Amino acid sequence: MNTTGTLRPGLEGVVATETSLSSVDGNAGELIIGGFPLEEFAATATFEETAFLLWKGRVPGAHELTTFRDDLASRRRLPSATLALLRAAATESRPPMDTVRMAAATLDIDGAVGSTLDDAITITARIPAIVASYQRLLNGNDPIDGRHDLGHTANYLYMLEGNEPTPARVRALETYLNTVVDHGLNASTFTARVITSTGSDLVSAVTGAIGALKGPLHGGAPGPALDMVMEIGSAERIDAYLREKLERGERLMGFGHRVYKVRDPRADVLAGAARDLFRNDGDAALYELAMRVEARAIELLEEYKPGRRLQTNVEFYTALLLHGLGLPPELFTPTFAVARAVGWIAHSLEQSREGRLIRPQSMYVGPRNGEWVPLDKR
Ligand code: ACO
Repeated sequence: MNTTGTLRPGLEGVVATETSLSSVDGNAGELIIGGFPLEEFAATATFEETAFLLWKGRVPGAHELTTFRDDLASRRRLPSATLALLRAAATESRPPMDTVRMAAATLDIDGAVGSTLDDAITITARIPAIVASYQRLLNGNDPIDGRHDLGHTANYLYMLEGNEPTPARVRALETYLNTVVDHGLNASTFTARVITSTGSDLVSAVTGAIGALKGPLHGGAPGPALDMVMEIGSAERIDAYLREKLERGERLMGFGHRVYKVRDPRADVLAGAARDLFRNDGDAALYELAMRVEARAIELLEEYKPGRRLQTNVEFYTALLLHGLGLPPELFTPTFAVARAVGWIAHSLEQSREGRLIRPQSMYVGPRNGEWVPLDKR
């Protein structure tokens, strides 16, 4: 196809759709979710309220919330084929995100599909069950059933650990899930919308989105961000460590963002949640060290990459918060998927209503007028 459009590498600056789900202002450092500034609700809302808001466009009343929470809780049991897949993957010690992607594709294998909203609830209920069950299997433990009396977030920790989590830990994780639930037209959300735009189903959209989230430039950075703080280990090593990395031309994980040119507002919310968690039952020294690493990293990024406006992104404090919750780094990206699944689904629902196939163009730069030489003459 011959195109006359302007080439925008990485689709940077291209506006591809309208949405009522979230607004990301990278210069003002503002994130609005379903009409609410992130700071307004992230640290107090339950994840069920946030999901309801994104899917229905309004906050639920008390009765609606109870019904919604019960509905989610009643759909956590995984199909036996999904469990069999998890067991097979654990035998091969497959990385958790690969397994989550494979298992997500099986979520409708037991025919538990109905209306699109039914599917949305089933997928959302089952993704944390996949992550938790697989983690237990990897550690040589049997998966455990969810508990109907626990909310979505508490139940995720329960299915991972087998103990009822403290309210402080549930709050910290709930704040994280709310914070990363949706974020404009990021790569995985765009993937979900592209798949939905073809008229495909929600399980396919979520499975494709998981594949996009897996990459280190999207959802795969928090583990390395934590490694960096751990490797630095003490305040006097910060400067030398960061300089060495930057002089080798390496990227500092947890910094820089395609859209935010000021501090990611999610970093503020997560830093607050990490501070509260670490104050009660975490490693306060690690939190202090991370704050100092962040401050110095921003100064050095300006020195080594002047004018690029590289600031802290969401991954930096995600690492600290999830570590403080006792989650191992290999669960960081799967836990991101637990939250973002609700956003992917909200975008898929919105895309279905829009009903237009997403089909951009490419600019051909290869040769023309080739002469085809038959195989026996080459
Ligand atoms: N450390 C050092 N230098 C950086 C960093 C970083 N973290 N991020 C960008 N740069 C530099 C690049 O080397 C480039 O320098 P140059 O102009 O001299 O070549 C310049 O800043 C612009 O970089 P781009 O890659 O063009 O910026 P882009 O918008 O494509 O990148 C990205 C955004 C991928 C997030 C990048 O900042 C990065 O790799 N960060 C580290 C990984 C990370 O934290 N990922 C999580 C992102 S948050 C999320 O997805 C939920």
